Amino acid sequence: MSRFWSDHIHALQPYVPGEQPKQNLLKLNTNEHAYGPSPKVLEAIAAVTNDRLRLYPPYDSAALIAAIADLHQVGTDQVFLGNGSDEVLAHVFNTLFLRDNRPLLMPDITYSFYKTYCRFFGVPSELQPLADDYTITVSDYTRPRDVAPAAIIFANPNAPTGIALGLDDIAAIAQANPDSAIVVDEAYVDFGAQSAAALLGQYDNIVVIHTLSKSYALAGLRVGYALANPEVVAGLQRVKDSFNSYPLDTLAQAGALAAIQDRSYFDEKRAAIMQSREQLTAALRSLGFQVLPSKTNFVFARHEQVDAKHIHQALRDHGILVRHFNQPRIEQFLRITIGTPEQCATLLTALRDILSVQS
Ligand SMILES: Cc1ncc(COP(=O)(O)O)c(C=O)c1O
Repeated sequence: MSRFWSDHIHALQPYVPGEQPKQNLLKLNTNEHAYGPSPKVLEAIAAVTNDRLRLYPPYDSAALIAAIADLHQVGTDQVFLGNGSDEVLAHVFNTLFLRDNRPLLMPDITYSFYKTYCRFFGVPSELQPLADDYTITVSDYTRPRDVAPAAIIFANPNAPTGIALGLDDIAAIAQANPDSAIVVDEAYVDFGAQSAAALLGQYDNIVVIHTLSKSYALAGLRVGYALANPEVVAGLQRVKDSFNSYPLDTLAQAGALAAIQDRSYFDEKRAAIMQSREQLTAALRSLGFQVLPSKTNFVFARHEQVDAKHIHQALRDHGILVRHFNQPRIEQFLRITIGTPEQCATLLTALRDILSVQS
């Protein structure tokens, strides 16, 4: 704390990301990709790592935007880029969620950065509890209200539950709230869920957020994007250009473009991760865990008898990091990133040891 801080800094409660350990632990705690990025990404980054770095990056990121537009079959004026989807989300909150003090609706259990941004930007929020089976109750978002929400936001698949909502449900929410922005954070969608990008032609209020951090194995490069109608994108650009005109550096633009273009690598690796997820889910269930049905590169699991905090610490003692949230309703769960088959095997060996199960 310093007497030089601006007044509002005192009340901020920053987001706390999963631990990035200094020592050599098996990291299954922040949902990074199990495999590295495509070799073509590394080649593309090497190709622009030269004296041209003295120049600013392409201001409009035109090549990358064209590739993303092509991938999702939308116009180039429907794509907005940012330095990771966290930054895209920040601009979305600032651009779309501050209207006449109308509330933002979101699940009580979802990506916790949304609450941080609510406090940061002064967005009033109303939490809608997930059902007992941890699914989103669609009617919470479609019933008539005295005051229409400024916006609705949820992750799909949701985090940290991993459970996905179908497109019919998202369409119903968009249909019932024509004057509200419906923001669907699809950080994990490539691991088996359906993208609401398919609904953009029908609903001008849908905003879809993607990241290259998970399914493209590029968390270190910091690239995210939004897909929305051109007027919404123009608003986001206005905010971005009032804040930082060059959020994506030259290396990130080149690497992201190569990652999006290498479809065979992308498909092969995400298929491998989905297969490992199904195998890990079955193995965890046989060890007495309840595992929620996941469409992501992680599973959310609770043991029927053993305390989650105990398992979390015991795994750490075995050199394995998983994520535990000390939060009501989910404090008995662990969120476990899907690793390679070898990493999953290491995890299961440690769990058998901790739970004293004979193999
Ligand atoms: C649901 C969700 N949205 C967004 C993000 C942010 O991703 P990034 O800023 O790396 O693009 C994460 C990261 O874990 C996430 O889980």
